[in-house]
Amino acid sequence: MNEPPPFPAFHFTRPSGPGFAIVSEGCAAANEWMAFYMLRLLESLDLKDLASTHWFSLWRDAYLRFYQPIFAAYTYTLSEGRTCLLAKEPSADRVLALFDTVQAALPDLLNGRPIEDLLLASENIPLWERYFNIENQLYQMNNQWLAQCIQPLVKPGDVLLEVGGGFGSAALTLARTLTPTQREQAHLVFSEIVPFFMSRARRALGGQFAKIDYKMLDLNHINEPPSPGQFDLIYGVNVLHVAQDLESTLATLYQWLQPGGSLVFSEAVRPFIDVPIYPEMVFGFFRDFHQVHLSDLRPKGGFLTQDHWKALLVHQGFQVDTWPKSELGPEYPFIYSTCLVAQKPK
Ligand SMILES: C[S@@+](CC[C@H](N)C(=O)[O-])C[C@H]1O[C@@H](n2cnc3c(N)ncnc32)[C@H](O)[C@@H]1O
Repeated sequence: MNEPPPFPAFHFTRPSGPGFAIVSEGCAAANEWMAFYMLRLLESLDLKDLASTHWFSLWRDAYLRFYQPIFAAYTYTLSEGRTCLLAKEPSADRVLALFDTVQAALPDLLNGRPIEDLLLASENIPLWERYFNIENQLYQMNNQWLAQCIQPLVKPGDVLLEVGGGFGSAALTLARTLTPTQREQAHLVFSEIVPFFMSRARRALGGQFAKIDYKMLDLNHINEPPSPGQFDLIYGVNVLHVAQDLESTLATLYQWLQPGGSLVFSEAVRPFIDVPIYPEMVFGFFRDFHQVHLSDLRPKGGFLTQDHWKALLVHQGFQVDTWPKSELGPEYPFIYSTCLVAQKPK
């Protein structure tokens, strides 16, 4: 039998401010291993036939430029990286399954096959169900931060809107974080654009809130807009970056809120605007990442930095706070999400 691989560790100093306490040590380490694994994966690809101006070439070059110096002292191989990642956080197999599927189809995707064709095919839907799931610790962190930020804001009788609610893991986490009284009095409007995701969410969320309405809502094509001031709180996880015209979408959400209401959302963030993050190996292939209106406030499609989100929200008139309370980026570039809490003034 082969010897089990050694169990090495990176020596990065992790932040410890408020908010990080709920990120388990295994999960923080798994993010580091994921960044490392992606580095070795990208180093192993042969892209000589791909135009150097293709977004994926540029993305890979930028990834190597940033992460090679960070991991220069470590000689672990791709497969050691994978083993260590899974040993640190076994639920990362849900992340790897999605990435493996994209990697296997990479030649086709780079030739222009739409990723929707691959990842929204019925045989691959279970990948998403396992990924957007409370058991996937690398993803669940987004839901936990979100729910912790929302809980103190919910008042009796509030009407909440979730945008891009998917399979319902954020709503489920929220229901488990609210007090029984809050849950018994809350009215949730759960929205999504993929009918199959929505039907799964219905199953997961039955009985979790006093009242739930389900609504198809596409942030880029709003057919029946809610009335101004209809919601006390709007929330979402990793959905707002898909808005083609982000400034206009934020203006719309602002309008739907009551004065004093809040927009709370988790987003994957880059440590610096030009530094890639590993989830883009999958999400970077979606059209929403590339076909967007750019502006000074939104200089790039896809994931932004925490500071860009803050500036966009302030520009809209929101008062903004973030969670976890720590500088993301330069100090420790392995925290890939943030939760933004934006309040419409009273
Ligand atoms: C990161 S997922 C959210 C997952 C969700 N929290 C869950 O537990 O499954 C983002 C969701 O946004 C949805 N979405 C994508 N484009 C959208 C759009 N234009 N408007 C509204 N929702 C959208 C996707 O279908 C997906 O379910």
